Amino acid sequence: MIKPYGSEKLNPLYVQDAGKRAALAKEAESLPSLVVSSAAAANAVMLGAGYFNPLTGYMNKADALKVATEMKTTAGLFWPVPIVNVVQDASAIRGKKQIALRDPNVAGHPVLAVMEVKAIEELSADDLKLMTEKIFRTTDPKHPGVAAFNSAGNTLVSGPIQVLNFSYFEKDFPETYRTAYQLRDEMQKLGWNKVVAFQTRNPMHRAHEELCRMAYEQVHADGILIHMLLGKLKPGDIPADVRDACIRKMVELYFPKNTVLVSGYGFDMLYAGPREALLHAVFRQNTGCTHLIVGRDHAGVGSYYGPFDAQTIFDEVPKGALRIEIFKADNTAWSKKLGRVVMMRDAPDHKPEDFINLSGTKVREMLSKGMDLPPEFSRPEVAKILMGHYQSQAQ
Ligand code: ADX
Repeated sequence: MIKPYGSEKLNPLYVQDAGKRAALAKEAESLPSLVVSSAAAANAVMLGAGYFNPLTGYMNKADALKVATEMKTTAGLFWPVPIVNVVQDASAIRGKKQIALRDPNVAGHPVLAVMEVKAIEELSADDLKLMTEKIFRTTDPKHPGVAAFNSAGNTLVSGPIQVLNFSYFEKDFPETYRTAYQLRDEMQKLGWNKVVAFQTRNPMHRAHEELCRMAYEQVHADGILIHMLLGKLKPGDIPADVRDACIRKMVELYFPKNTVLVSGYGFDMLYAGPREALLHAVFRQNTGCTHLIVGRDHAGVGSYYGPFDAQTIFDEVPKGALRIEIFKADNTAWSKKLGRVVMMRDAPDHKPEDFINLSGTKVREMLSKGMDLPPEFSRPEVAKILMGHYQSQAQ
């Protein structure tokens, strides 16, 4: 099986031993604490699950700035996005060594992790602007990732953490949420060595489905990991439970048995396009995947990124840093001539008018207008679930 990113063995920060976990949770109740941002909580969940291996906690200012500007930590580890805990007000924990991090997304703000505070540092307005520009390629406050990043505050609390639970993800998505180490175990049991990962935040339209099939066939993979984002999205995106139902229906009806694992991870969407694609590759390697599909406008939003920027950025990864390979997919569309979904580069004789372009944005637009989804866009069984969701919202 492919090795994790940056170490021989995966080192998830979740406290695995139940006794130790219970003791730490008890101790945490009396520690000074912070209710962290949703983004920082999501980072803790990812660290706990082993997805962000080999990191041991939240980055300090020097690391965060270096990662933002040069995509490496001060120790020289390639890393694409700062993993930080930024807060508005750290007065409750000043001078404290051990603190509890409380979950903003669960009622009562239970303790999510225990942190050893190594530094509390201020980010200047210039630091924040520079980081924003580098991570998102824009400082436009209308960009949903920029808005979230710039609203968390400017005090950076850094240091190693021990994670006590996986926030709301296990409870809300018991069949779907999995840690990186659980996925490794599952793939090992299935005897999968070569595994293609598919990142998604959509219910999977026909282009998505065919991308998975094409990558699976072309790399001669043992299996496909459909790995959906289960954390927060921008308004208008389709909720995770509906996406999950759509994806499971599609897999059940249109993929051979035992070729697809449907699963999800607990992270808020950054919409950081190219930088997020790199992060996706890092954490899919940690799940044991050997390939990641990166298609058109991967992890993008609006028109902030060029359609294939998330592919070309992989040229900037230092040689040998990543073991996972990228399956670079061209624009995938319905061919009116062939009556099936094709990758445009595989249909050189086609003119633009021979294609119907397929995108998640278009699917959402049609659904919100109450329009039926044609079979070129969506499998009928999937369309039915989606239309049911939109109708229930309209009432
Ligand atoms: S994402 O934000 O999670 O990347 P989405 O779920 O829409 O959004 O996309 C999942 C993957 O499918 C990404 O790699 C994306 O680039 C790819 N993709 C989606 N639609 C197309 C398309 N029509 N042609 C090529 N790639 C596509």
